[in-house]
Amino acid sequence: MNEEVGKAFQAGTKHHRETLRGYHLDWDARPPTFKLYSGAPLFELPDTRSEPGATLQGDGDLWSIVARRRSVRRFSAEDGVTQLELSRLLWAGAGVTRATPHHLYRSAPSAGGLYPIETYLVVNRVTGLPPGLYHYRVAGPNDDGDIDAGRGHALEQLQDGPLGDAVAQAALGQEWAANAAVVFIWTAVFTRARWKYRERAFRYVYLDAGHIAAHVSLAAVAQGLASCQIAAFFDEEVDGLVGIDGEDEGTVYMTAVGRPLSDKRD
Ligand SMILES: Cc1cc2nc3c(=O)[nH]c(=O)nc-3n(C[C@H](O)[C@H](O)[C@H](O)COP(=O)(O)O)c2cc1C
Repeated sequence: MNEEVGKAFQAGTKHHRETLRGYHLDWDARPPTFKLYSGAPLFELPDTRSEPGATLQGDGDLWSIVARRRSVRRFSAEDGVTQLELSRLLWAGAGVTRATPHHLYRSAPSAGGLYPIETYLVVNRVTGLPPGLYHYRVAGPNDDGDIDAGRGHALEQLQDGPLGDAVAQAALGQEWAANAAVVFIWTAVFTRARWKYRERAFRYVYLDAGHIAAHVSLAAVAQGLASCQIAAFFDEEVDGLVGIDGEDEGTVYMTAVGRPLSDKRD
């Protein structure tokens, strides 16, 4: 590793009064906010609020949830998570919480509302969902071709078959991660944030990912699940698994979620 890179990054991404002046956004060059895998098999997710039995498990008080969050690396190898639990994890991390005619606001804050973070999942054990690689469709095109939150909150299946061991190996061989029910992989579409923030965007994408992961980790606790963040991974291996180039879009963070061994449901 080049020991000067960190310092250069910090210095090269600082805001200065002189350089910030006179910069105008090119609205015609704005990259799309939503990534779609149009041909992929689509799996609708259950509504986070209207499903029967949708009450949160255990103590739903925010303060208690924050106090109980811990990194957990021992997950049940038998019990997975339900689609409703997964639906809530995704909604808490990246779901749309407010729709206006020109903007879809999401659960987690994002610099400039540009939402450069994409969510992929390695599904190991989710009820009724074949193991494989999925991409979270936040919103999709309606019949007029406009992006509509009502056409999102769904999973696009990109690959079929077990990938738990592959993702654990890519995570520097952290074998415990293979036992997670689902591993969230967060990538940054750098161009989406660079369009506005230029080099400073490289700071913001990591902050955005941190917000999303924090939401997911609390949503896990609120449902009797547990999680552990993962930033130790071979970048090119995870990028390869997801099918991205690592330049325009690269993996920035991961979170393993499962049912903790000590908290098995009856
Ligand atoms: C940015 C970041 C990266 C992390 N990467 C890993 C990881 O690769 N593997 C792991 O086992 N834990 C990882 N963790 C979890 C930390 O080890 C854990 O949060 C820390 O020990 C504090 O424990 P707690 O989360 O239970 O409060 C990471 C946490 C953060 C915030």
